[in-house]
Amino acid sequence: MGVAVRQASRIILLHLLLLVSSHCHGCWARLLSENRGEKFMDHRLSGFSKIDDDDGHVHAHANGMSHMDHLLMDPRSMIFFTLDDLKPGKTMPIYFPKREPSSSPHFLPREDTESIPFSSRDLPHLLDLFSFSSDSPQAKAMEDTLKHCETKPIEGETKSCATSLESMLDFVHGILGGKSPRFRAISTSHLIESSTRFQNYTILEAPRGVPASKMVACHTLPYPYAVFYCHSQESENKVFEVVLGGENGDRVKAVAVCHLDTSQWNRDHPSFRVLGVEPGTVPVCHFFPADNLVWVPIAPTPSMM
Ligand SMILES: *[C@@H]1O[C@H](CO)[C@@H](O)[C@H](O)[C@H]1NC(C)=O
Repeated sequence: MGVAVRQASRIILLHLLLLVSSHCHGCWARLLSENRGEKFMDHRLSGFSKIDDDDGHVHAHANGMSHMDHLLMDPRSMIFFTLDDLKPGKTMPIYFPKREPSSSPHFLPREDTESIPFSSRDLPHLLDLFSFSSDSPQAKAMEDTLKHCETKPIEGETKSCATSLESMLDFVHGILGGKSPRFRAISTSHLIESSTRFQNYTILEAPRGVPASKMVACHTLPYPYAVFYCHSQESENKVFEVVLGGENGDRVKAVAVCHLDTSQWNRDHPSFRVLGVEPGTVPVCHFFPADNLVWVPIAPTPSMM
């Protein structure tokens, strides 16, 4: 890597750490911690065990959305809307998953993850390595994650499962990079948060468009260490920051993306069922949960040109 790229990576890393530390108390210490290995299984186990304990109607919602081929975050975190909905005063029910920084798996250094196999073929060995029985929910989650990661990208899509922060940055650089790669990660932040995950939210201000000629979305996948499914589509997207007020007093600065062309998407994509539309007919938008990252280029400022 050239000096410029290394420097850029360092800046990005700093941004990411700042971003992570402002949303997630204690994440930074864990990210930087050299003391890796012992604790993360505990964190992750509690994270895993909470997979199923949400309230009933959310669950019903999730069941209707279980066949997700290409947008592979937790189904319950997927909330779709159309570009026409994106205006102040609009009210819609949205599910934001519970944030549990203390139980989220943390990144392992790339040197470590490169020595651990990451494929369905190796699942039996991986279950041994992480001490899970083959019929445990954790085994099922690992199997699903590996399968998602092995699914071929759709037409016009580039995807990668990043098993370390370094490999995530490499992927993002590969997509957004150019002569002077400068990019940043944005994510949804909960400014005021009640305990209700699923509620009606009203768009409080005119949504702010984030200028981005290209973007990379990275979604967390359940695994013993941090794994992000990152992908980028050639078709046109629009990125927005939307200030939402919940009926329970919640306040969220949510990141949303609108996909302008959905003609290549699988007909079974949950968004079509939720919105009652056909592929390729209207732009489909969705909010991101707080632990996802959306990478966008930093627009050059006049002084840099
Ligand atoms: C949102 O509001 C509508 C209309 O008042 C209501 O029927 C619905 O149950 C609410 N949804 C949630 C998630 O609270």
